[in-house]
Amino acid sequence: MSRDLFEAARAAMGHAYAPYSKFPVGAAIRTEDGKVFAGCNIEIASYPEGWCAETTALSHYVMGGGGRIGEIAVIAERMPRITPCGGCRQRLAEFAGPDAKLYLCDATGVVETVRLGDLLPHGFRGDILK
Ligand code: THU
Repeated sequence: MSRDLFEAARAAMGHAYAPYSKFPVGAAIRTEDGKVFAGCNIEIASYPEGWCAETTALSHYVMGGGGRIGEIAVIAERMPRITPCGGCRQRLAEFAGPDAKLYLCDATGVVETVRLGDLLPHGFRGDILK
């Protein structure tokens, strides 16, 4: 099951707009009811304005109606096993529970599977803000 999500992330990486870092990244999210939302990183000449692949995937997820997130795959062609940046861990944790599976990938497939909760222990929780 993880293979097709890896392939969705890899295909998304092909759309990366990363002319400044030359560091294409792809991400794919699957909801428990089987919907897949993918994204790539998008860079802007004013560097801080760019954003990560996971963020693009989350945008598609929200616009696609959301749902319970079961799995997430991330890949960067220049890194043997990318882990999401701190900001993206927090963004993913906004919508995915701590037991969501995170597939860390290289160019050939899933290298390691971790729980989102293990990547963001003691993350900020917004429950009290609601
Ligand atoms: N990047 C991601 O897309 N996801 C991450 O989790 C880490 C970094 C992107 C942002 C930027 O376009 C490039 O990788 C180099 O930092």
